[in-house]
Amino acid sequence: MKHIILNNHEGMSDYCANIILDSLNQNPALVLCMASGHTPTRTCELLVEKIQKEKVDTTKMTFIGLDEWVGLPPDNEGSCHYYFQHHLLLPLGLKPTQFHLFDVLSEDLHKECEKMNAVIESKGIDLMIVGIGMNGHIGFNEPGIPFSNKCHVAKLEEITKEVGQKYFSGETKLDKGITIGLQYLMQSKQVILLANGLKKAAVIKEAIKGPVGTAFPASIMQTHSNGLIITCSEAASLVQ
Ligand code: GLP
Repeated sequence: MKHIILNNHEGMSDYCANIILDSLNQNPALVLCMASGHTPTRTCELLVEKIQKEKVDTTKMTFIGLDEWVGLPPDNEGSCHYYFQHHLLLPLGLKPTQFHLFDVLSEDLHKECEKMNAVIESKGIDLMIVGIGMNGHIGFNEPGIPFSNKCHVAKLEEITKEVGQKYFSGETKLDKGITIGLQYLMQSKQVILLANGLKKAAVIKEAIKGPVGTAFPASIMQTHSNGLIITCSEAASLVQ
């Protein structure tokens, strides 16, 4: 695993957008899996700008959404579905056959997990871009979840529900999440974890220097042979 430190959020977003762009240029049939959240927003904006400017072919790529809050309709502006649609899928004009997002209104979430497991097992993931939660989670892989998990529904920790309120305009009941499991992170050909701001400094230190184990899911990054952590200098301030 490598750690790259850029000056600020703009710098790290540009660096990450360029990696995605290069991957797409090298492999138009790229399978890209991404987290939503505040951290990757600028990466998405820059990626869309670069793809449009360079007229990169996106008709063969596949997009997979990493996770979703259970029970939220896709038109809820705080949902991952809404985020992906507005930041990537619509601007890039991806066809419904090119993307896979969890349907959290489904009565059978187990089936949703099986469907996503089947997509990932048939296509594989070339590039996974994730963030990190304030308890070290990746996606909704909360502390204690085995690294061998495939897609699953997770009961969310209090801190995840509290911090998650930032995505919504009014108080929103959050209880469970559905997520791609860490087994698939390990099987992805390349994984990038993005973190910015002083608020992420402690979790970045734990992810990079702490013991590897399920108590802190992001520690799994230390074991990925093609894992990259990209942070700004503030988020890296406790590991420099
Ligand atoms: C959320 C999501 C994660 C995301 C993380 C960090 O709870 N489940 O997929 O990466 O928290 O979000 P942010 O980038 O807004 O800090």
